[in-house]
Amino acid sequence: MAQRMRKKRHFDERMSATQKWLLARGAGGILNMKEAAENYRALVDYKAVFGNDNPVDIEIGCGKGGFLCELAKRNPDRNYIGVEMVSNVVISAMENAEKQGAENVRFLNIRAECLPCYIPEESVENIYLNFSTPLPKLGYVSQRLTYRGFLEMYKKLLADGGKVVQKTDNRDFFDFSLEEYRACGFELTELTYNLHENGSPEWNIITEYERKWVEQGLPIHRVVALKKSS
Ligand SMILES: C[S@@+](CC[C@H](N)C(=O)[O-])C[C@H]1O[C@@H](n2cnc3c(N)ncnc32)[C@H](O)[C@@H]1O
Repeated sequence: MAQRMRKKRHFDERMSATQKWLLARGAGGILNMKEAAENYRALVDYKAVFGNDNPVDIEIGCGKGGFLCELAKRNPDRNYIGVEMVSNVVISAMENAEKQGAENVRFLNIRAECLPCYIPEESVENIYLNFSTPLPKLGYVSQRLTYRGFLEMYKKLLADGGKVVQKTDNRDFFDFSLEEYRACGFELTELTYNLHENGSPEWNIITEYERKWVEQGLPIHRVVALKKSS
């Protein structure tokens, strides 16, 4: 019990020390996910948050934020929002951003299902999905982040010509994702089943999970799915 209280205290301290990087935490327990996405709106005012009109990209399931913070460092003329549902994990990401002084990065501690509550329609240029949980059991298909329900939502959030950029080590999940992109009218480009065939490309930012799988010798799959103009 004492240990649990100590953990909680550290959690609260860390959360308040990194508040600057946090845009929102959940839509509240009162609404279920579907209701939240349909009825709750707290749209992020990018100009007020970032102080500029630079393009906005998001990473869904950003984990500890290593990828997003490095991407932000390489592209100071863009803004980035990391989406992560686990509070203990998003704290590490925010501490990472704090350490780096990443002024062009912010975080949403929400489930992806709630994105329409916070992200204005047609306001995002790139959505990054790095090593999303594959959820292999059939009962969880609709919770996979590349399930068509999510892809239809991403289409609304993406500007014309916007992209979903996906990396994964899981071949079954990748094949499933390709089918879903096609079914939702995305155009597939830059498709590879072995991104690291000749070593990691210079432009590639290796995520925490990617490093783990590459060290185990697993091939990394990558695709860029383009939203066609409406
Ligand atoms: C396997 S980890 C990958 C982390 C990181 N992207 C990387 O490549 O190292 C997947 C992350 O996605 C988060 N996640 C899974 N489903 C999510 C959802 N529906 N909404 C937001 N985050 C989610 C998990 O909490 C976890 O941190």
